[in-house]
Amino acid sequence: MGLKILFLVLLSVGESLALDCLQYPDSLIYNGSTVYIPGFDGAPQTIPANFNCIYNISVPVNSTSGMYAYVVLQNQLKGLNDYMIVSDVDGRKYTMNNRTGMNKGPIEYAVFPGATFSVQVVTKSVFMDSRFSLTVRYYSAKISPPTQLKTGAEMNYFDMGTLRDGQHLFSSVTFVNNEQISMIMPKQIDYVPTCWDCFVIDGTFTNQTMPYRLKDVDYKMFTSSSFAITIISFQNGFLPFIFNTLSESKQYTAIWALSTKPIISIPTSLRTFYPGFIEAVEVVNYQSNGIVMQDLQINSQNCTAYVVSGPPNNSSQVILDLSTATMPHSFDLKYFSVVNQDCDFSFGVRSS
Ligand SMILES: *[C@@H]1O[C@H](CO)[C@@H](O)[C@H](O)[C@H]1NC(C)=O
Ligand SMILES: *[C@@H]1O[C@H](CO)[C@@H](O)[C@H](O)[C@H]1NC(C)=O
Ligand SMILES: *[C@@H]1O[C@H](CO)[C@@H](O)[C@H](O)[C@H]1NC(C)=O
Ligand SMILES: *[C@@H]1O[C@H](CO)[C@@H](O)[C@H](O)[C@H]1NC(C)=O
Ligand SMILES: *[C@@H]1O[C@H](CO)[C@@H](O)[C@H](O)[C@H]1NC(C)=O
Ligand SMILES: *[C@@H]1O[C@H](CO)[C@@H](O)[C@H](O)[C@H]1NC(C)=O
Ligand SMILES: *[C@@H]1O[C@H](CO)[C@@H](O)[C@H](O)[C@H]1NC(C)=O
Repeated sequence: MGLKILFLVLLSVGESLALDCLQYPDSLIYNGSTVYIPGFDGAPQTIPANFNCIYNISVPVNSTSGMYAYVVLQNQLKGLNDYMIVSDVDGRKYTMNNRTGMNKGPIEYAVFPGATFSVQVVTKSVFMDSRFSLTVRYYSAKISPPTQLKTGAEMNYFDMGTLRDGQHLFSSVTFVNNEQISMIMPKQIDYVPTCWDCFVIDGTFTNQTMPYRLKDVDYKMFTSSSFAITIISFQNGFLPFIFNTLSESKQYTAIWALSTKPIISIPTSLRTFYPGFIEAVEVVNYQSNGIVMQDLQINSQNCTAYVVSGPPNNSSQVILDLSTATMPHSFDLKYFSVVNQDCDFSFGVRSS
């Protein structure tokens, strides 16, 4: 009853319908659509006292297409006890009140197809003229069929930058496998790890086991619990990945990866920290063909370490024994792996 009266009053002063806490209709979800919550032109609207609503942003997806959205939140809460809870696409929750978000301008969120994103708006019993608005811009997203991971001696490397069509900000790729997948982001000589709006889904778009922000998993090897990994980027530029099948990666104590550039050599060192500590480094030249290894320095008395032609898999060929190698050594290859069985050494790699 109270709400109904409020509703009429609001209507009579020209306020918006969405303040009665209804989900906007699916008919508003189409390419190029802008949805204003709680209504009007996107300007922050006054929230009545005793208000509590969870606004859900709907981003449908199926196996061939979906929608993504940019959500812009304006927080003009004035009541000290009024607050909002943003439930972000990676499952994190952010509480905002009168002391946060204000005068800092609108906050923008990228919401990928099939994601869960909501904003709860709560006011207490005293009307404080708190205001907020959500502006949702919708765009259609093409979902490509999944790519099967290669097996054996073929390296699974991928640059998200190659998906750019110069038009859409959204790009995605899904890799599937017959077992769990390990994902590594190779180190670069000039690495700037600042892709905030990049995501990794453990699973596919239509079967999302768990979504992560890339920055939360990019510093280590990430292993899926499902047999699929989906990567989403809302940014331009080079964004390299390497995938291994779990049975391959788990034979190593450590695996990491390097992405080479011309001229400047990227240095790395490997060390057998204890007997049985076995590690591998996957090296990829994403831009061209040819890799030069140089500055090899062996610091242990004995050295069992070698270069293999593909991923650290026994179907890859041993192409260089590092205990007897002379430097620099040119490989007419796009990628290889350095496997350290028992050695303490360092070297550098660059694109040739
Ligand atoms: C949003 O979803 C939550 C949880 O499913 C539900 O309780 C709430 O009513 C929904 N909000 C709207 C406006 O429909
Ligand atoms: C979505 O709209 C944009 C801008 O109007 C257009 O360039 C694009 O082709 C549209 N996409 C689809 C799938 O219709
Ligand atoms: C996916 O959704 C689009 C848009 O709603 C529809 O045109 C298409 O037929 C759907 N595809 C599948 C495989 O369901
Ligand atoms: C927060 O609320 C208090 C009390 O209503 C108000 O005096 C103050 O100006 C508000 N802060 C901001 C940044 O608006
Ligand atoms: C080699 O690769 C195959 C196929 O990816 C995988 O099944 C196998 O476990 C790998 N073997 C080793 C020793 O890594
Ligand atoms: C090096 O290898 C030789 C011969 O296999 C062995 O006798 C010796 O103990 C090894 N030295 C070290 C430091 O592991
Ligand atoms: C490769 O390794 C797998 C798993 O360890 C093993 O089953 C297979 O026999 C090995 N293949 C070769 C050619 O060594």
